[in-house]
Amino acid sequence: MDVTQYLQAHKTLVDQALATACDSAHGMPPRLVEAMRYSLMAGGKRIRPALVFAGAECVGGTAADVVPCACALEMIHTFSLIHDDLPAMDDDDLRRGQPTNHKMFGEAAAVLSGDGLLAEAFWSLTDPAWVAKIGAARVLETLRDIAEATGGRGMVGGQLLDIDGESQPLTESDVTTLHRQKTGALIAVAVRSGARLAGASTEQLDLLGRFGAAAGLAFQIADDLLSLESTAEQLGKPVGNDVAREKSTYPAVVGREAARAKMTQLTAEAIECLQSFHDRAEPLRALATFITARSL
Ligand code: IPE
Ligand code: IPE
Ligand code: MG
Ligand code: MG
Repeated sequence: MDVTQYLQAHKTLVDQALATACDSAHGMPPRLVEAMRYSLMAGGKRIRPALVFAGAECVGGTAADVVPCACALEMIHTFSLIHDDLPAMDDDDLRRGQPTNHKMFGEAAAVLSGDGLLAEAFWSLTDPAWVAKIGAARVLETLRDIAEATGGRGMVGGQLLDIDGESQPLTESDVTTLHRQKTGALIAVAVRSGARLAGASTEQLDLLGRFGAAAGLAFQIADDLLSLESTAEQLGKPVGNDVAREKSTYPAVVGREAARAKMTQLTAEAIECLQSFHDRAEPLRALATFITARSL
C-alpha cells in the first residue's frame, strides 16, 4: 500500500472540510478566525485525521462518514501546537514552516485562537445533521473519549508533565507516561473514534486502543529523534530545542540507540494488534510503519 498516496488523498478530504469550517465561522471576530485559520491551514501531515479515516475503514466504514471527527482531532491537535509554542511553554518561533501563531498575532490572540479551536472541535462533533446520521449514542461515547484524551488525563496533563520535567532526572517509566499522555492519547483516540463511529465492537475498540497507544508512543519517540537528527527546513519547526530546554525526551533518558529500538518494538506491537482485521487494516499498518520511518 502506498502510504504517501493514502495520506495525500485523505489530507485533501480533511483540508477541504477544515477550509469550509473556517469559511463558515460566523459570529467570531475576524481577527480570531484569521489566527485560527493561519495555524490550522498552515500545512501539517494530517496524521490524526488519517488515523480517524483508517480506523473507520478497518471496521468496514468509510472516510466520508467520519470527516467531522477527523476535523475535530486536527483542530485539537493544532490548538495543542499553538499553545506548545508559546513563550510560557516551548517558546518556539517556527511551526509548519511558518512563524508561530504568537509571532504573527501576539500572545493573547494565540492563547485565544487555541481555545477557539478546542471549542470548535466539539462544535464540529455535534453538528446535528451528522449526529442524526451516525447515531447520538455513538457520538456521545466518542465525545467523552476525546475529552478524556485531550484534557488533564491526556494531552493537557502530559504537557504539564513535559514542562515540569525540564531539567529533571526522569526515569524511562516517567518519560513513557509523559509521552503516552502528551502525544499518545490523541493518536490513540483518533483511531478509536473512527472505528467507534463506524460501528466497531468493544473487542475491536480494545485492540485498536492498544494499537493506537503503541503507535502513539512510537510517534513521540520519532519526533524526539527527528529533533536531534533532522533540520528545521525539513521539519518546518526548530531542531535541537529539546536539548536547549533540557527536555526529558526518550533519547535523552535512554540514549538514541535504545530509543530507536523501543520505537521499532512498539511498531511491531502495534501491527500485531491488527491481525484479526485482515486486509481492512492495511492503511493502519502502513501508517504505523510511516510513523517510525518518516523524515518529517
Ligand atoms: C507534532 O505533531 C507534535 C507532536 C505531537 C509530536 P505532527 O508531527 O503530527 O505535526 P504536524 O501536524 O504534521 O505539523
Ligand atoms: C508536542 O510536543 C506535543 C503537543 C503539542 C501536545 P513537543 O513540544 O515535543 O513537539 P514539537 O517538537 O514542538 O512539535
Ligand atoms: Mg512541548
Ligand atoms: Mg514543542
